[in-house]
Formats: sequence, structure tokens, C-alpha cells
Amino acid sequence: MSVPITNTVYVLNGPNLNLLGMREPEIYGADTLDDIAAMLEDRARELGLEIEMRQSNHEGHLVDWLHEAQAEGAKAVLLNAAAYTHTSIALLDAIKAIRTPVIEVHLSDPSTREPFRHHSYVGLAAAKTVQGLGARSYLVALEAVAEL
Ligand code: DQA
Repeated sequence: MSVPITNTVYVLNGPNLNLLGMREPEIYGADTLDDIAAMLEDRARELGLEIEMRQSNHEGHLVDWLHEAQAEGAKAVLLNAAAYTHTSIALLDAIKAIRTPVIEVHLSDPSTREPFRHHSYVGLAAAKTVQGLGARSYLVALEAVAEL
């Protein structure tokens, strides 16, 4: 059963991203997740899109929200799975289980950091990856959605 596609873009954020702004600002920058949400909402308005911003420290919530994105007819998902990027077969399977396109987002560039960050399960199924641009990674990813 397919639902009509809406203009809503789910922006799903994984563990420790609730601490953005205070958390290792030399790596992740000074913007909080609320700052990023406000930036995204402004740009989304210009692009005729809507943002559904979520954050959880729990892997299963992210899986449930990927399923929900499809069930609600989301246009796309921006997913910063944070550390689960590098560990979660459950997230890989969830991305493969839905037809909603998922764009992988990272503030930092994990490929230039510790070796354990070089592998991305999310990237194995994501339509695209935007990383290393700080908060702007989210904006570039949103602009990519507008072109889908
Ligand atoms: C991150 C990169 C991950 O390796 C890390 O575990 C994070 C944040 C990023 O946005 O740069 O928590 O996803």
C-alpha cells in the first residue's frame, strides 16, 4: 500500500547530538541542534518543504522513525545516525526496508577521523552522503532533497 508523498522531510538525529554546541565544539561546531533546526526551517520554507526534526539516543527510536517516515509519506529523510552510523545493521536494514530516500548527514568528515569511523552502515544504503561541512551539511542535504 502506498501513501501520497508529502513535502515533509524527516531530519533524524542520533546519540549525543542533543549536546551539540557544548559537545567537542572543535569538531562539531558551536551550533546547537535547535540552531540547526531553525536554519533548516528557514531554508525549507524557501524550498516549499517542511521539516520534522527529531533526536534520540536510542537506536530503536531511529528505526521506528524511519518506518514512520515512509508510513507518513515523507519526501525524504536526512539521517545523522551519529555513532550508530558505524555500528548499526538495524539502521542499514531499516533504510533498505523503506522506499523513502535517505540522505546520510555528518557535521564532521568521519573518513578523516579515527579508523573506526571510516565504515558507514548507513552509507551502504543511503541515496547520498553529505559530510564535513559542519551545520551546513544539513542545508546542503536539504537542497539535495529539493532536487529529488
Ligand atoms: C557524526 C560523526 C560520527 O562519527 C560521530 O559518532 C557523531 C557525529 C557527525 O555528525 O560528524 O556522533 O555523525
